[in-house]
Amino acid sequence: MRTRIAVLVSGGGTNLQALIDARDRGELPDGELALVVSNNAEAYALRRAEAAGIPAAVCLRGKGEGREAFEARLLEILEANHIQMLVLAGFMAILSAGFVARYPDAIINVHPSLIPSFCGEGFYGLRVHRAALDYGVKVTGATVHYVNEIPDGGRIICQKAVEIKPGDTPETLQRRVMEQAEWKLLPQAAQQVAKELRKRSEAYV
Ligand code: GAR
Repeated sequence: MRTRIAVLVSGGGTNLQALIDARDRGELPDGELALVVSNNAEAYALRRAEAAGIPAAVCLRGKGEGREAFEARLLEILEANHIQMLVLAGFMAILSAGFVARYPDAIINVHPSLIPSFCGEGFYGLRVHRAALDYGVKVTGATVHYVNEIPDGGRIICQKAVEIKPGDTPETLQRRVMEQAEWKLLPQAAQQVAKELRKRSEAYV
């Protein structure tokens, strides 16, 4: 049985697309892209899921709704779909320690910098690249890591460096980091973790 994966998204979903493309090339043999969940009803990622034939769900955090209530609904969706592993691919929400504990070593996230630089609460999307340019670093990159209770603080799975070029804007840098690092690293890491989880679950059979 392949590991059943849910991809959690909030926006454009280019990293989701990279996972779909890897799957279609046969590069995700130990995982099944079983579900996409978005916390944004307008996310273009939802259309990518539909085009790829992956069931999708929207789980919004209501105005004034506590994180616990939101996570309880999210968990319900994941359990109803027998999900064993989560890939956070541009998912702009922080998960609580209680939630993360439900999926030990089974949640991974892609972050657009070389952790521990430019990471943690408040560092997401273009803000990360803006911070790297403001600091003046000459090299940045992307990281895929396990998710624990500390934002961007879980064990690192893989990283790739990307050069910053003169005249870069947050947008040009974001694109280069995606093309040269994120879209390659995330499918590789997803396959690696799906394989580990498959072995773990087969050991119990
Ligand atoms: C990606 O660059 C991802 O690394 C980043 O948001 C972008 C989502 O793009 N995630 C974070 O900043 C999380 N801290 P996508 O929707 O096109 O995959």
